[in-house]
Amino acid sequence: MYAVILHGGQGTRLRPLTHTGPKQLIKVAGKPVSQWVLEQIRDAGIKDVILVLGDNTPKKVVDYYGDGSPFGVNITYVYQGEARGLADAVYKVKEVVSGKFLVYLGDNLVPYDLRKFISFKGSASILLANVDNPNRFGVAVLKEGRVVKLVEKPKEPISTLALVGVYAFTEEIFDVIEGLKPSWRGELEITDAIQSLIDEGKEVDYEIVQGWWKDTGTPKDILEANSFLLDRYAERKIEGEVKGSTVDGRVIIEKGAVIENSVVRGPAFIGKGSKVINSYIGPFTSIGDSSEVIDSEVEYSVILDGVRIRGVSLMDSLIGNNSTVERGKKWQKLIVGENSTVII
Ligand code: TTP
Repeated sequence: MYAVILHGGQGTRLRPLTHTGPKQLIKVAGKPVSQWVLEQIRDAGIKDVILVLGDNTPKKVVDYYGDGSPFGVNITYVYQGEARGLADAVYKVKEVVSGKFLVYLGDNLVPYDLRKFISFKGSASILLANVDNPNRFGVAVLKEGRVVKLVEKPKEPISTLALVGVYAFTEEIFDVIEGLKPSWRGELEITDAIQSLIDEGKEVDYEIVQGWWKDTGTPKDILEANSFLLDRYAERKIEGEVKGSTVDGRVIIEKGAVIENSVVRGPAFIGKGSKVINSYIGPFTSIGDSSEVIDSEVEYSVILDGVRIRGVSLMDSLIGNNSTVERGKKWQKLIVGENSTVII
């Protein structure tokens, strides 16, 4: 069985981070969001993975995942280019897959054992979760163990079961996508394709996820995902050097990292080659590779790779690769990309 990870899209809500790379490569709790997805798929026993690439620096994705062997999977790349919708992205794998296949949005995290879901019987299956605000989602109406209708952002309280970003299809999906027309937003919608299957009398099955899941489309979602994943998966592992410091609880310090004259409280992650000096790293913080935190306090934050932080106190912050955050002597001097937030 193949699993397809959708790695395209525009990522407008995550600008400026997505000016230099796809949102699925943003690291939470030490790994790109799509790596959490890939490993979940592998752990469900699927070894053949297709990554569907968009037009936002697709080379970065290929450079990171290669042929998949370091991750224990075989990867085939398919190019979608411009984001023309989820159904368009799925159609791009027509010549590669055969039989049943899984489709997982590469910016979604649904920590759930996929094995039962992928053993569906019908023409397709969708993963659902109960939500308090169904008017912000696509929802499914169920009858006698089957999906009978999908409604985008319902105005009436027709169902509280929202589609989370995981689907399973048979090759029948390609025929219905061929008959789709673009929606009001100009995209080929996967919900329209599934609705077409239902309209043709085909069986669409479902599973309901209990517990946490997240679409990491916004900065706030990235911070929440980081906290959740650290809380659930971080186990104490100190491979770096700790000098004159206190490291409390479930903290991962990777090789080549140095913690000096500092306090680190878990759950937290500090990546390869990073330096933490005269600082406090509070819970639910991830620091990427080759970053420096000096004379600072950081908590509930995601600091990506190659970042310099000096003389500041940060909370609920998301700092992109190779950025610098420093206290000025009198004036604050800022070079801020579009759609950024700075609170001083
Ligand atoms: P979205 O988050 O709905 O769209 P987006 O990536 O364009 O983001 P934004 O709204 O902030 O501009 O996409 C859901 C997932 O599907 C995400 O992982 C990207 C992927 N995707 C594709 O691979 N191809 C597409 O054509 C679209 C629309 C999304």
